[in-house]
Amino acid sequence: TLTQADKAAVVTIWTKVSTQADAIGAESLERLFSSYPQTKTYFPHFDLSQGSAQLRGHGSKVMNAIGEAVKHIDDIRGALAKLSELHAYILRVDPVNFKLLSHCILCSVAARYPSDFTPEVHAAWDKFLSSVSSVLTEKYR
Ligand code: HEM
Repeated sequence: TLTQADKAAVVTIWTKVSTQADAIGAESLERLFSSYPQTKTYFPHFDLSQGSAQLRGHGSKVMNAIGEAVKHIDDIRGALAKLSELHAYILRVDPVNFKLLSHCILCSVAARYPSDFTPEVHAAWDKFLSSVSSVLTEKYR
């Protein structure tokens, strides 16, 4: 679980990330699809070439949802309830993929804000993304 210090670190790094959320979202998806090409199977209806409008649009949606989770950091489950149902019941995304996307988001943030990405911020951001992923995959059980 996220400690008070973790939450504070997440909120702080988010103030920076949110200013470039769309670019970071698109970059995270590009990293996901190029490092883990099997994840592309969930997006047969998308143009996944680098910088495509669909990729950018989707990256923006994903980062918006993460922003909602930051805003409601004490109630991530409530904030993402609808998305949780969507991913479990309709999209049926295998939970392993959430770890892969979280890793790619982590890399994109680290690459963009190297001096802010201290070990403490890294750990807090990693825990936060793992809480988001837990919420989005818990309906599978
Ligand atoms: C759709 C967020 C992980 C596959 C969406 C949407 C959001 C979102 C906000 C749009 C929902 C809507 O239009 O109402 C997230 C977040 C994730 C995550 C925050 C984890 C941090 C994943 C993973 C996959 C995935 C790991 C598969 C590799 C999809 C697909 C759609 C979708 C296929 C529908 C795309 C479309 O047809 O427009 N997700 N997602 N998501 N997500 Fe996720």
